[in-house]
Amino acid sequence: MRTSILTVCLVAALTAAAGCSRDAAPAADASKTTATPEAKVTDTAVAAADRDEHSYAQPDLVRIDDLALLLAVDFASKTLTGSATYTLAWTDPKANQLVLDTRDLKIEKIVGERDDGKWVDLKYSLADADKTLGSKLTIEAPDRNKRIRVSYATSPSASGLQWLEPSMTQGKKTPFMFSQSQQIHARSWVPLQDTPSVRFTYTAHVTAPKDAMVLMSADNDPKAARDGDYEFKMPQKIPSYLLAIAAGDLVFQPISNRSGVWAEPGMVKKAATEFVDTEKMMETTEKLYGPYRWERYDILVLPPSFPYGGMENPRLTFATPTVIVGDKSLVSLVAHELAHSWSGNLVTFSSSKDAWLNEGFTSYVENRIVEALYGKERSDMESVIGRNELAAEFKTIDPKLQALALKPGVLKDPDEASSATVYTKGAWFLQFLEQRYGREVFDPFLRDYFNHFAFQSIATTQFVDYAKANLLAKHPGKVSEAELDEWIYGSGIPKSAPATVSPRFDAVDAARKTWVDGGALPDKALTAKWTTQEWVHFIEGMPEKLSVDQLGALDAAYKFTGTPNGEIAQRWYPLTVRSGYHQADQAIAAFLTTIGRRKLIMPTYGELVKTPEGLKLAEDTFAKAKPGYHPITTGSVEAVIAKAKEPAQPSAAGQ
Ligand code: BES
Ligand code: ZN
Repeated sequence: MRTSILTVCLVAALTAAAGCSRDAAPAADASKTTATPEAKVTDTAVAAADRDEHSYAQPDLVRIDDLALLLAVDFASKTLTGSATYTLAWTDPKANQLVLDTRDLKIEKIVGERDDGKWVDLKYSLADADKTLGSKLTIEAPDRNKRIRVSYATSPSASGLQWLEPSMTQGKKTPFMFSQSQQIHARSWVPLQDTPSVRFTYTAHVTAPKDAMVLMSADNDPKAARDGDYEFKMPQKIPSYLLAIAAGDLVFQPISNRSGVWAEPGMVKKAATEFVDTEKMMETTEKLYGPYRWERYDILVLPPSFPYGGMENPRLTFATPTVIVGDKSLVSLVAHELAHSWSGNLVTFSSSKDAWLNEGFTSYVENRIVEALYGKERSDMESVIGRNELAAEFKTIDPKLQALALKPGVLKDPDEASSATVYTKGAWFLQFLEQRYGREVFDPFLRDYFNHFAFQSIATTQFVDYAKANLLAKHPGKVSEAELDEWIYGSGIPKSAPATVSPRFDAVDAARKTWVDGGALPDKALTAKWTTQEWVHFIEGMPEKLSVDQLGALDAAYKFTGTPNGEIAQRWYPLTVRSGYHQADQAIAAFLTTIGRRKLIMPTYGELVKTPEGLKLAEDTFAKAKPGYHPITTGSVEAVIAKAKEPAQPSAAGQ
C-alpha cells in the first residue's frame, strides 16, 4: 500500500504542529514555475542550485571513496566506539581540509597517513551543534592525506540508533540495537560526508557480545557463526543514508537461494511465510528493469518500535513487523523496498530536494510489482488510497512543497518533505508518462535510465534532460515540455493526471453508503472477501464523526477496536477519538505503547491532542511508551504535544 511515511507532516498540517511548513504562500501558477532546464548539468558537475543544503561537506574539493569502520557494540553504555578510516580523493588542487558531518559524537583523536606510511595527529575543530544539521567537523590536512582516521564514540541518545532493553524485544532475553540513517542520521553514528551526492564503498569490523548477531547493509552471510566478531564488505558504492547496522538475537530463514528473512527466533517463520513471494518480486522487477545488481536480498524484521514501515538498506531491507498480518495484504512494503534496489540505491537523488527521484520512482515500480503478482485490482486500490491521501494533504500544505523538484531553501529539515508529494504525485507522474507512451516504450525507457545512471547520484535536472532526449524528442507529439515542467515544478495535480477507477472500492462505497443512510451493515458474505485495502477504504470514507451507537455497531460486527492490523488501527482510532467513543481508549493506549511506527500512530496522537481529555490520554500514554520509542518517533510525538499546548498558554495567563 502506498502510504505516507511522513504522515507526521499531514498530522502537523491538521494540528498545526511544529516542524512542518505552514506558510500560507499563494498557490503557484504551475505553468510559470519552471526551474531553468537550460542550465545544463553534466553527469559529473553539480550545479549550484542542486547542492545539498543539509550537509556541511564540500565534495567538490575532496570526496570519501572508501570507508573502513572498526566498531565495538556496547549495550551497557548504549554506545558504538571505534574508528572510521576514509580513503580520500582530493579533487581540488588547493583543498587542504576535510569537512565532515557529525551529530552528538565524541571525537577522541584524528590521524592522517603520510606518504611515508606514518600516521600523524591532525588538528581539527568541532563546531557548535546546529539543531538540524549537527556539528561541522573540520579536519586540517595540509598534506592532503590519502587516508584519514577519526576515533570516536557515539552518544547513548544518537538520533540514528535505537537501543532496546531485552524487555522490549520479542524474546525478552537479549538486548537489541539498530540504525536508521535516512535522511541525515548516519552522522550520529559515523562521522561522514553525510550527503547522498557522495558514494563510497565500505568495510566494517564489528565486535559485540557473543549472543548478539550483527548485520549490516553489506555481504551478510546467512551461515555466519555467532561469535561476537564480524566482518563486512560492501563493494558497491553507496550513499551515507544507506549505511546500516543491527545487533540482537537474530536468526535466518531462507526464501530462495538469494533471499531470506532475519528476525528474532519467535518471528522468523511467520515472517518468511508472509514474505514468501520475495523471489518472485525480484524476478518480476528484473524482467522489467534489468538484473538485480546487489547479489543477496534479505529482509530484517525489527521490533515494533522501528519508526518506519521499511528502509531500503542495500542487501538487507529493514522492515516493521506491523506488515506481517497473515494474509500477505501488506507485502507491497517489500515490493517498495526491493524496488529501491533500482530506484534509489542504484540511481540516487543527490539531495533531499529531489527525493521524488527515489520515492516517486519506487512507488511507481512498487505498483507495477504488485500488479504483476497480485493483480491490477489490488494495485489500483493501493493507488486510490494514496491519491485520496494526496488530495487531503494538498488542501493544507504549502504549495512550494507540492512540487516534485523543490527549490533551494524550501526544505528546512529533510524530514519536512511532503511524503504524499514525493511518493504519490511522483508515481502518478510516471503513470502519466506510461499512459501517454505505452508500456512498450516506457518500460525500456526506465530500464535504460536505471542503466545509464547506475551507481550515480543525480538531480532532477539530469532526469529532465534525459527524458527530453530519450522520450519526448524520440516520440514527438505525445507529451509537451510544458506538461513535463508542470508535473515536476508546479504545485497541485496537473489536469493531465490519468484517473484510476476501482470497482472493488465502488462496492465498498455502496456498502458504506447503505449503512450510513440507515440501512444494514454489509453482510459477512461480502466482507469475507475484503482485504486490508477495502477495510481501510471503508473506514476512510466514513463521515467526519459517527455516533457512539454507530461505532459500537461497527465494533460488534467487525471488532475494529483492538485490531492487530495497524493500517486499520491507523484509520479507526482517530475516528473513535473525534467521535468521543471512549470504549476504544484502552485499546488506543495499548496500540500507542506497543507500536512505534510513526505513520501508524501519529494520526491518533494528532486527533487526541485536540481536546483536553484527549491530550491527557496522549500525554499519559506517551509517558509510558517513551522508553520504548525510537528517537525519531519521540521527536514527532513531543512536537505534536508541545504544539497543542502552546495556544492554551496566552489565554490561561489572561484568566
Ligand atoms: N526510504 C524510505 C524510508 C525513509 C524515507 C526514511 C525518508 C527516512 C526519510 C522507505 O523506502 C519508505 O518509503 N518506507 C515507507 C514504506 C512504503 C511502503 C511507502 C514507510 O516507511 O512507510
Ligand atoms: Zn521508499
